[in-house]
Amino acid sequence: MQRPSPLNVHAIQSYLGTRSLGRRIELHERLDSTNREAVALAQAGVEHGTIVLADAQTSGRGRMARTWFSPPGVNLYGSVVIRTPIKAPLLAAWLSWLPLMAALGVAEAIDIVSGLPTAVKWPNDLLINERKVGGILCESAASVGTGPFQIIGIGVNVNGVPEDFPDDLRHIATTIRHETGGFIDRNRLTAQLLIELESCLEEFLSRGSESIALAYRRRCTTIGKTVRAVLADGKEYIGVADAIEQDGSLTVVQPSLGTSPPTVRQLRAADIMHLR
Ligand code: BTN
Repeated sequence: MQRPSPLNVHAIQSYLGTRSLGRRIELHERLDSTNREAVALAQAGVEHGTIVLADAQTSGRGRMARTWFSPPGVNLYGSVVIRTPIKAPLLAAWLSWLPLMAALGVAEAIDIVSGLPTAVKWPNDLLINERKVGGILCESAASVGTGPFQIIGIGVNVNGVPEDFPDDLRHIATTIRHETGGFIDRNRLTAQLLIELESCLEEFLSRGSESIALAYRRRCTTIGKTVRAVLADGKEYIGVADAIEQDGSLTVVQPSLGTSPPTVRQLRAADIMHLR
């Protein structure tokens, strides 16, 4: 592709082959945050699968209360409303796996559209050549009358150049264009990630977490690495990432000190840095 194409609802629909995700598309030139808008729409009763897209965000939200760099015209910023009736015994597993399934689906979509192998850093950072090309921010809420819902917020750095990143991101982030040397059609990428995401969610709902967990482990390059894990309360652990458990948590083993045995930490949420 010679030049980046503008986001366009009809173009996205022309690539879509989903049952419910993306059947309704709300496209905005600019929003403060697509996640905030998707929560508001979900509270007002919007249907399952609706995606809110923006060409730019003025207050894009990242994990761990960070902001998400969201310049106009080059990237993908989207939030999908998930309103699936889940039976009580499955609910905890669904909520734990949703952010990981989102990362898996988006990684598959980037692979397909760009031709580049896209890895996942636990829990849901998307990496190409060990640099961050995208991230996921899931939120859960409920409202009187419309019941519980989840929002999957997806940010992918698509057609920008690394020189445009702020200083603190320039050496840790990348864009698909930088990695492939060519522009990517954001409409096709949006449709593809909805297709891949829907297929992950359907697999989980019909057969449980087993094959999702296998596919996720294959994509996740955190396993076997020495990592620094920073928890929401500021606690820090350094150790070897040993396994992704069947509930989606990460096991980190801290080496023994002197005669004491190694400490095994089971992490449900953390910011992970791959050290080596
Ligand atoms: C992360 O910190 O890695 C998660 C970033 C998620 C960013 C996306 S962009 C679209 C959606 N709207 C937001 O405000 N955040 C998410």
